[in-house]
Amino acid sequence: MIRARLTALAVAGAAVLGAVAQLPASAAPAHPAEADRIEVFGHRGASGYRPEHTLASYDLAARTGADYIEPDLVPTKDGVLVARHENEISGTTDVAQRPEFADRRTTKVVDGAELTGWFTEDFTLAELKTLRAIERIPDLRPNNTIYNGRFEVPTFQEVLDLRARLSKELGREIGIAPETKHPSYFARIGLPLEPGVVEALDRNGLNQEKAKVVVQSFEVANLKQLNGPLKVRLVQLISNSGAPQDFVEAGDPRTYADMVKPEGLKEIATYADVIGPDTKVILPVDEQGNLTEPTTVVADAHAADLTVVPYTVRAENNFLPADFRSSEDKAAWGDVFAFHRALFEQGIDGVFADHPDIAVQARDEFAGR
Ligand code: G3P
Ligand code: CA
Repeated sequence: MIRARLTALAVAGAAVLGAVAQLPASAAPAHPAEADRIEVFGHRGASGYRPEHTLASYDLAARTGADYIEPDLVPTKDGVLVARHENEISGTTDVAQRPEFADRRTTKVVDGAELTGWFTEDFTLAELKTLRAIERIPDLRPNNTIYNGRFEVPTFQEVLDLRARLSKELGREIGIAPETKHPSYFARIGLPLEPGVVEALDRNGLNQEKAKVVVQSFEVANLKQLNGPLKVRLVQLISNSGAPQDFVEAGDPRTYADMVKPEGLKEIATYADVIGPDTKVILPVDEQGNLTEPTTVVADAHAADLTVVPYTVRAENNFLPADFRSSEDKAAWGDVFAFHRALFEQGIDGVFADHPDIAVQARDEFAGR
């Protein structure tokens, strides 16, 4: 799916990037003139500051400048889409402390991984709504734990309603970037995600080519399926290792590494508009976590008429390349501005960030504001 979605400026930018594609990516010039169009995606909201995938997290992301908020989507037993990073919810809710749900604890295989815990597809929405969100990584984000027990698990519709309210209040359109999680798994158990995503975007007047909406997936078949009913842009997510789960299940030998080769990118451009690679796909690191030579993936993607929005920039040393860490303390913040700049210098079009306020400031500094 190649849509006429690039602005004249972006088209010119893609041409420039195409022209330098034969150079090492590290030699590609920075494009401060284009930096204004680098979009900041509040990853799971502003998850560096609030328990992820809560209305409070999305609200803070928008208020601190994010261009988009990002709900990951899984279904309840009664087929309602809710915002969680995974269907096993013991790490992000207080379900394990709820005696009334003790007997729901079970073991399942999801995308080849055996998991024991509590799963959204075993709870009705009414039951899920009695739970409260908790911080996923309390050791790294201890301050966020003061919010434990305060916020519900939101439905996709509640996130869309918040988006609409904030857009009015802030006087700028807040974009939304839903991600379909484990689409093959949910289709197999009779709770496919895609009809709910299409219905919700239709119902909210957001299934339009110019809507500030992108729909993401790590899998391929469901993006191809969504390319029919959806007019909005689609994002092929690219892990730093492995292969799309639907490829694995179908015996397709292609890996994510194959998909970011020029031929693979051309194939992606037949059904998607954007790639969302792990930052390491653009800026690889060695075994010690030190940056090595940048790849040519950004230039190659632009040459295939795809924009590039890598995930995920986080301020804590634990998540930064060694070059930008401030100390051995995993929870302390490193030079996240420098990491943003290193990515911007590769010519990316947007970035997923747990601390979207920092991404916005880094973007604005890069743009010379
Ligand atoms: O959707 C971009 C990024 O969020 C993908 O990784 O695991 O955080 O959903 P994940
Ligand atoms: Ca995501």
